Order: sequence, then structure tokens, then C-alpha cells
Amino acid sequence: MIKVNEHFLKLQSSYLFSEIARRVNAYQADNPDMSVIRLGIGDATQPLCPACLDAFHAAVDEMGREATFRGYGPEQGYEFLREKIARYDYGERGVEISPGEIFISDGAKCDTGNFQEIFAVDIKVAIPDPVYPVYLDTNVMAGRTGSFDNGRYGDVVYMDCTADNGFLPDIPDEPVDLVYLCFPNNPTGAVPTREYLARWVDYARENRAVILYDAAYEAFIRDDAIPRTIYEINGAKEVAIEFRSFSKTAGFTGTRCAFCVVPEDCVAYDSAGNSHHLHDLWNRRQATKFNGVSYPVQRAAEAVYSPDGRKQTREMIDRYMANADRITAAMDELGFSYTGGKNSPYVWVDVGTDSWEFFDTLLTKAGVVCTPGGGFGKCGNRYVRFSAFNNYKNVDEAMNRMAGIF
Ligand code: MLT
Repeated sequence: MIKVNEHFLKLQSSYLFSEIARRVNAYQADNPDMSVIRLGIGDATQPLCPACLDAFHAAVDEMGREATFRGYGPEQGYEFLREKIARYDYGERGVEISPGEIFISDGAKCDTGNFQEIFAVDIKVAIPDPVYPVYLDTNVMAGRTGSFDNGRYGDVVYMDCTADNGFLPDIPDEPVDLVYLCFPNNPTGAVPTREYLARWVDYARENRAVILYDAAYEAFIRDDAIPRTIYEINGAKEVAIEFRSFSKTAGFTGTRCAFCVVPEDCVAYDSAGNSHHLHDLWNRRQATKFNGVSYPVQRAAEAVYSPDGRKQTREMIDRYMANADRITAAMDELGFSYTGGKNSPYVWVDVGTDSWEFFDTLLTKAGVVCTPGGGFGKCGNRYVRFSAFNNYKNVDEAMNRMAGIF
């Protein structure tokens, strides 16, 4: 008899963004004349910039000629893109990462979800609350979390992120092996200081733990004092894997391209205490399960680093950040306290009431979609997240509508 992986049965209802889409679609079907404004999922709305588009077209044309056609590419990504990332995202910031330590992929969601596969099932995992649900759900699927009781999985070490700790997870009292951190944070928009990150790196080195560091929103950092990569911290290359994405940086949510950095120095241990390089294990995993990102998409991503691409993507991010400014100004006027929106496209708002109720009120009274904080964890129950990914006109209209009902 075929049997299911029973760990899947421990997952809570549907994936957060699928549930939001279900509710919005039902509302729209009942109210076809209402123009719904979506500030829920962080999905890019601005088109690919001209530099990326030109490179994309040229690469598609190459695929149409026998002399320049390309079949299977390297599972780790083409050297031309890995080299640019190493040079511009790291080298220019004084961080030495070699192209060989970079793995190109089709998304930070896939990478942050898949990376846990190379660790043992019986490790202790520390996960922030609230959190991007992928980190938690993929550990549930892998059988690391225990059962779900009273709103939490028994074997997970939750790190509460509240106004009291500035939404920065505290180092847990009990020993942990794998730590998920995300900065600028999704969903709270919180950002770390160097000293704060250094405490985590020291902890991981002392405890032979590994940090999975999701920096998918790094491009939204405007304050120079905030670290852009965890590798700005001494010793981080021994203990941290970093995830980045072109999704939000350059509007690639539909085009798909991301990468992770797995430094040569980063190790984990077998049950006899022997160390193993995560780079080798991840390389083995990717070569087995992943076919790489398409050649034209990698050429389009490479164009992000050209002089025009850098200028154009910067302008794109500035436009989203003008939306974030409009959202935070509205929250100030309405008297809601919030975090984020300064170095992040997300604004995390304390609505002081059940987040799904607030979501439903905002949708049905104003036709505006936010993301209920409860979907990111227990600590998000009285918060909602507004995303700056839309155009200014819509964001302005959404904030005006909101002012009309609160
Ligand atoms: C979000 O809204 O949290 C993100 O768009 C989700 C994702 O990037 O997968």
C-alpha cells in the first residue's frame, strides 16, 4: 500500500498567499465592479528595465541560431553571471566571495526551502515568529518540527519578534543547530546593526551552528550603516549561507532568477563528528535535482550589473520606496504604529485586533488587500503587512480609501 509522508499532514491549512488569493478572488467574484488594490503579496509590478530586456531579447535570438544555441547549462549557473555577482554584490563592498561559491537558482523561495535537505532530521531549528512561512513549512515536511499544538510545533525553537525586542530575534536560551534569519525582514521590515549580526555569527561559531541568512530584500536598504550582506561580519563565511534574489531587486518574480552563496569554509558534521563542506553537499544536491536557470534569464540578470542596469534598477526600487513612504505617512496620520518601510518594501502595522478580521474589513469595506500578520506566526496576530509593490497611484488611492474607513 502506498503511504503518504505523514509530516505533510501536520502542515496548517493552505499556504498563506494561496488563502489570501482565495479570499480576494471570492470577494472580486461577488463585487465585479470593485477595483481591488493589492498590497498583499510582495509581487513586482514594474516591468523589466530596458537593460535587462535588451539582454533578454539578444539571448533569445542566440538560442535561435545554431552557432549560438545552448542546451543544458551548468546546474550552478553560468560563469558570466556568477562572476558579476561576486564582483558587484560582494567585491565592491570589500567582501571576498569567489564565483565558485555562488549557485544560481530560480528563486530564494526554492533555495531557502530546499537548503534544509542537506542537514540531519534530528537537529534543533530556530525560527523567528513572525516568519516567511517557507522556512517553517519545509521543516515540517522534512519531519523536524514535531506536532502542532496550541498554535506551535513542539520541536521548533521559536524566536519571538515583538516591539519589545525591536522585531530582532534574541539568541535562544537553549542550544540550536540551524538558525533562520531574514534582513531586511519579511514580514516586519526590521533591519539589523553590525553588532547584532556579529552576536549571531559568534554564537554560530561557538556552537557549531549554521545560519541561513535570507537577504532577498537587500537592495531596499537605504541606510549605509546597515550591513548589506552577512559576510560583512568577521567569521560569517564559516557559518552562514546567504540567499539573494533578482525578484524584488529587478522585477524578476515572473522571470525567475536568484542565487545563494555557500562559502567553501562553511561546514556541518556527521554523527562521528567529522566535518563536511556544505558547498560540496549543496553542489551534489543541485547537480542531482536542478537543471539550472535558462540562458536568456541569466543574461537578463547579468544586465542588472551593467551601468544602465544598475541605474535603472535603482530607479525602480526608488519608485517602490516612494510607495513605502506614502504608506508610512498614512499610518502616521491614522495613528497606527508600525515598523519597516524605511529600508524595506514592507510596512508592519500594529492594528490592535485580530489580523484576519482586519484583513477582511479592509478588503470588504475598502477593496484593499494587505497580508494578515497571523499568517506569519502567532506573534503576528495583531499585525498586518502592507507591501509597497504596486504603482504610486494605486498606493495613494488605497491609503485614501483606508483613511475613509478608519
Ligand atoms: C511575500 O509577499 O512575502 C513574498 O512575495 C513571497 C515570496 O517572495 O515568495
